[in-house]
Amino acid sequence: MSFSRQELADTIRSIPDYPKPGIIFRDITTLLGNPRAFRRAVDELVNPYVGMNVRKIAGMEARGFILGGAVAHQLSAGFVPIRKKGKLPHETVSIAYSLEYGVDEMEIHRDAVLPGEKVILVDDLIATGGTAVGAVQLLRQIGAEVVSACFVIDLPDLGGRAKLEALGVEVRTLVE
Ligand code: PRP
Ligand code: HPA
Repeated sequence: MSFSRQELADTIRSIPDYPKPGIIFRDITTLLGNPRAFRRAVDELVNPYVGMNVRKIAGMEARGFILGGAVAHQLSAGFVPIRKKGKLPHETVSIAYSLEYGVDEMEIHRDAVLPGEKVILVDDLIATGGTAVGAVQLLRQIGAEVVSACFVIDLPDLGGRAKLEALGVEVRTLVE
């Protein structure tokens, strides 16, 4: 029998004071390590997009690679990695961004999409939205049409969903 949303949420571990004091870190390794929970999470992320002819999934390093790769496979789409600075070997576009516990820089290959190609963004979690907003900006800079963004976890108090929606991106999440 398949998991309920609550059972899925219950597989996510909370770690206090990681990586900094005052942050409660939602750790998805426990969800990923549970075969039924991993299947359920990927199926739920995929379902709204079945039949939409999505060409590419973009995922943010590192946890967006795990979920985004599985989603891309199920939708028979390609996968575009958005990586932390200095990791991509070909010509890149980069952007500085801030997240709940710091600042960083991420990059995408300039030729990762065709002009106007429809892309869905996938990550494990949206908190402040800094990472996802940066990813949308990178994708738009290289000519992608970002049709939707999906996450297993939304931390609604941190306002990320609203920031993405203000950019005109549909947001789908599984648990809060
Ligand atoms: C985490 C998470 C999201 C981002 C969310 O990644 O996987 O990508 O933070 O935070 P935000 O909405 O405030 O931007 P992290 O940067 O910790 O990278 P990692 O997956 O490499 O650990
Ligand atoms: N868990 C995982 N990634 C995160 C979190 C969290 O609680 N907050 C911001 N990025």
